[in-house]
Amino acid sequence: MLDLLVFLIPAYIANSSPVVLGGGAPLDFGIKLNGKRILGEGKTIRGFAGGTLAGATAGIIVAWFYPLPFFASMEQQMAGALMLALGTLVGDSLGSFLKRRLGMESGSPFFPDTFIFLIVALAFAWPFVQDLYSPFNLVFFFGLTIILHPAANFLANRAGLKKVPW
Ligand code: CTP
Ligand code: MG
Repeated sequence: MLDLLVFLIPAYIANSSPVVLGGGAPLDFGIKLNGKRILGEGKTIRGFAGGTLAGATAGIIVAWFYPLPFFASMEQQMAGALMLALGTLVGDSLGSFLKRRLGMESGSPFFPDTFIFLIVALAFAWPFVQDLYSPFNLVFFFGLTIILHPAANFLANRAGLKKVPW
């Protein structure tokens, strides 16, 4: 089970770091679709790139020290980490895209925020893993994330990094 948690480190770092690394130009360049922003001010280019790089870097360091059994080689583990990190930011942006289409403001609470990023991250990493996405492991991944995501947001808010506690 520790291996399953370690596997998700790139996704968790990628998801949590944009709050500190983000800022600057929005990823959607301010463009609107049917009167609503495509993604909104909460998704920035720096947050996307910084989150992906931070998550991938964390995963590459993990791959040196902690080889996971779901990967055929260290290179596969590094590629998997990069895809988890990239998938996390793509999924995070997809979540915002859906929120804007539903007319929800940037920063509003939205339960699917807790797991949409994980679905996309796991899908991106799929080609690099072996025998990982069993029903047990998937329940573990989503269960853990639905606990940790709100906890991380609450702590980031208390630490003064995030305006809202979700
Ligand atoms: N952030 C960023 N770039 C990203 C993702 C996040 O700069 N690609 C930063 C923004 O400052 C954002 C904060 O991290 O406000 C928190 O991220 P998140 O909760 O994902 O965004 P929200 O502001 O809640 O916006 P949305 O409703 O679109 O999710
Ligand atoms: Mg939010």
